[in-house]
Amino acid sequence: MHISENLSGVYVLDFFGETRMATRPKVPVPVYGERIAEGLRIWDPRRSKLAALLIKSWLAGGLGDLVKMLNLRPDSKVLYLGAATGTTVSHVSDLLSSGLVYAVEFSPRSMRDLFSLCQSRDNIIPLLEDASLPERYAPFLEPVDLVYQDVAQRNQAQIACRNAALYLKSGGALVLMIKARSVDVTADPKDVQKAEIERLEGVEVISVSDLRPYYQDHWAVVARRRDQA
Ligand SMILES: C[S@@+](CC[C@H](N)C(=O)[O-])C[C@H]1O[C@@H](n2cnc3c(N)ncnc32)[C@H](O)[C@@H]1O
Repeated sequence: MHISENLSGVYVLDFFGETRMATRPKVPVPVYGERIAEGLRIWDPRRSKLAALLIKSWLAGGLGDLVKMLNLRPDSKVLYLGAATGTTVSHVSDLLSSGLVYAVEFSPRSMRDLFSLCQSRDNIIPLLEDASLPERYAPFLEPVDLVYQDVAQRNQAQIACRNAALYLKSGGALVLMIKARSVDVTADPKDVQKAEIERLEGVEVISVSDLRPYYQDHWAVVARRRDQA
């Protein structure tokens, strides 16, 4: 295994001939069956859209800019919408030694697994809530540096905007994973992606990345919250 880079805790590796991202946990224990090598958790791009986005950015020469844009610093605060059982949340948690991840998930079944992940990590706050009703979790939240959303809902852009408007710091980053088929199964996925991006309000779109070959008809939109007047 050869480590090429460590950008704010995002390691870039050559792992058996393939480019992989990895993170360094406090305790090197697998969360979702991922490989552990030299104390690093290998971040599977087929299980995590964020890993897919990071690999694609690295291959395009833009990983450093992306990591900076996403505010992936040790003390960052992240609002994560659609946490599921915590696959990607666990890697974000590794990156934030003194920060916090607020992990919103509305499925009680997934929350049960997420909750057990939280027993071994002190920087994840699990919230059994609906991301489309963001006012409900206001009592538990503080302004965040990054809103990350992966919820596979028809109104993905609207959910992202409402959360960003309430919780994202001015200049903070929004990452919206668009799954075109969740918005409309019949329409051309590319048209759906464009329409969702046009629905984004209050943010400036910085980049749009196609997540193939890892995910079909998925795009990662990176945006920055505009300064409030
Ligand atoms: C594709 S999975 C997320 C995978 C996860 N982001 C990861 O990479 O580990 C989508 C998750 O979003 C959750 N979800 C969908 N709509 C939601 C909503 N309105 N509020 C909260 N969670 C939601 C689903 O229950 C599901 O667990």
